Amino acid sequence: MISRPFVLLTTLLFLLSNSLAFPNYADVLKRQEVEEADSRTGRPFRPVDPPSPPRPPRFTGAKLVHDPAHPWMPLRDGDERGPCPGMNTLASHGYISRDGVASPSEMVIAVQEGLNMENKFAIFVTYLNHLMNGNLVTDLLSIGGKTSKTGPDPPAHAGGLNVHGTFEGDAGMTRADTFFGDNHSFNQTLFDKFIDFSNRFGDGFYNLTVAGELRFQRLQDSIATNPEFSFKNVRYFTAYGESVFPLNFFVDGRQTEKKLDMDSARSFFEEMKFPPDFFRSSMPMSNQGRADIFRMHPFLPGGNVDGKVNNFAVDPASATFETPCVLYDDILNTVQGLGFTSVFNDQCPEQSPYGQE
Ligand code: HEM
Repeated sequence: MISRPFVLLTTLLFLLSNSLAFPNYADVLKRQEVEEADSRTGRPFRPVDPPSPPRPPRFTGAKLVHDPAHPWMPLRDGDERGPCPGMNTLASHGYISRDGVASPSEMVIAVQEGLNMENKFAIFVTYLNHLMNGNLVTDLLSIGGKTSKTGPDPPAHAGGLNVHGTFEGDAGMTRADTFFGDNHSFNQTLFDKFIDFSNRFGDGFYNLTVAGELRFQRLQDSIATNPEFSFKNVRYFTAYGESVFPLNFFVDGRQTEKKLDMDSARSFFEEMKFPPDFFRSSMPMSNQGRADIFRMHPFLPGGNVDGKVNNFAVDPASATFETPCVLYDDILNTVQGLGFTSVFNDQCPEQSPYGQE
């Protein structure tokens, strides 16, 4: 069951994502990016008009998605892959362009089609990432690092999903903290821990109990080893959600029990590949189970302070699951902080979304 704060947040961000394709805030950002591209290239730059966010598909049940139309293919030079095993897998099966660069609407269709992500949730996650890390002029987002494939000389912030501190963050399950150098590649040591916890708490399977224990342990790891550990606002929400994604999306849709075997886990996390004969979930999913794992080890948002390990302090200014509107404000601030106004030498009045002060 989706919590009320989450529904509220989703609704708020749905409004935000609608504004991407359409008037107001995203248009302001886009106009600024077009001006920037014009002045850099010395010629007028034609922006892409993005389509409206996709609607839910007609059929939303389980079906074979590792099908002949979507064969897995190995990576080619220049293909982008990043911190998200879901998007990596969809790219390697051709549900989005195999080079890992696509428009947000293509990504929403892909996560609905290939993994049965619920429509509003898919729009929220995808357009939020696009707003923070995509190229609004060309309407393209990289699922990995910054690349010229999102457009010629992309704006500085179109860095792709790898960008730390926007959506990507610390204490991931199979990706290391950015402080240790690589925040997006599959990390065998961390996957060994994933297996170990699945053995200790789930009889060899990743289940809800394992998800709660591993989420908490990864937080303890980061507190103890990463002097720059940060876990608040967007990251606070996404980390708990991502901990239940393997259960909601990587378990075969014909299976009734929500538990993931280790071969399937490796297939998604490391090989970016659907298990053989894989069926997507039998119903549209989002972050069901997140509240359960949070309740196992409640944890307030915050981070290590003064550049020291084992120096965790709660950040009272961060959003929590009880205060999702703080998250909404934080997202707007992050987007505003991407530096667009500096292009205009601070001569332009700051724009508020939806014409509000
Ligand atoms: C059904 C679809 C999806 C599934 C199953 C999925 C699954 C996951 C999982 C399990 C993780 C955690 C990886 C780890 O901690 O080792 C993750 C991380 C991530 N996902 Fe996805 N994801 C999906 C859709 C998306 C979409 C649509 C986007 C954006 C366009 C996205 C962006 C990210 C990013 C940026 C991270 C890194 C966050 C971090 O630092 O851990 N994901 N995803």
